[in-house]
Amino acid sequence: MRTIVITGASDGIGAEMARQLAALEGTANGGPGVNLVLAARNAAQLEAVAAECATLGAQTMIVPTDVSIQIQCRRLVISAVERFGGLDVLVNNAGRSAHALFEEVEDLSWYEELMRVNLWGAVWCTQAALPHLKDSKGSIVAVSSLAGLVGVPGRTAYSATKFALTGFFEALRAELKGAGVSVTTAYPGVVATRIRYRGFNAQGEAMGTSALKEEGAMSVEECARLIIEGMNARRREVVMTAKGKIGRFMKLLAPGLVEKMALAALKQDVRPPQ
Ligand SMILES: NC(=O)c1ccc[n+]([C@@H]2O[C@H](COP(=O)([O-])OP(=O)(O)OC[C@H]3O[C@@H](n4cnc5c(N)ncnc54)[C@H](OP(=O)(O)O)[C@@H]3O)[C@@H](O)[C@H]2O)c1
Repeated sequence: MRTIVITGASDGIGAEMARQLAALEGTANGGPGVNLVLAARNAAQLEAVAAECATLGAQTMIVPTDVSIQIQCRRLVISAVERFGGLDVLVNNAGRSAHALFEEVEDLSWYEELMRVNLWGAVWCTQAALPHLKDSKGSIVAVSSLAGLVGVPGRTAYSATKFALTGFFEALRAELKGAGVSVTTAYPGVVATRIRYRGFNAQGEAMGTSALKEEGAMSVEECARLIIEGMNARRREVVMTAKGKIGRFMKLLAPGLVEKMALAALKQDVRPPQ
């Protein structure tokens, strides 16, 4: 029976991964059982997700955690190991979005805050979890973004955090090869969650509205399914859309063209009220 820690499990992709893992491995459907450790800041929402997973026969534990605070990341891993005796998978999924032109931003302090959530939270959780993952020859998942493969105009802060995450886990994957710990980096495109409504605007406040076109977004169910599939197959990467796969190679062959496409996409963005 695996013990799986998921950060950002109170909503969106993380919550859906928890539900799908419970459905796949929980005892209610004849699975082997699974221990799910759910982390995020909102305890009430974590409780609700845990209750859904428990009905599917998963053992659950919630650990209210702000991943932008190192000690809370450590406490998350310690709590999981104390309760379940080890750790098999760490899913670094917690993240926040941001949408602003760099020139519109006066106070850059929220750029640092975003880096603490999207990069440092994953680094801190991974450092705490690593000895246990080596013991179990387990797996790490990092949920990056297509914005972590191609710099997206209007998203300097977000792209910077996701490129950093991508680079950190690419290097770590090679370092951990001998130890038998797999590292899977997922690159979702636009997925139908509330992330864009909660992201920072130029003033460092919650957007309250999405600055992207939401129609055509991948469903959260499909996104979670693809990440779980990649994680279980111990794949290096999960690049989710055809656009992402093509864009990545185009960037090497014709970077100017990719830049033009990105700028054209920016012009189509639904701009929030200024
Ligand atoms: N949706 C997309 O289109 C998309 C595309 C590419 C990549 N991604 C990435 O996918 C991941 C999940 O995003 P999502 O779309 O599922 O977003 P979401 O629905 O807004 O969920 C984000 C999760 O992260 C948690 N979180 C935020 N700040 C946190 C903090 N400081 N400490 C702990 N938990 C925190 C939130 O819970 P609390 O508020 O309760 O803390 C929530 O559970 C993110 O890393 C995101 O960058 C999403």
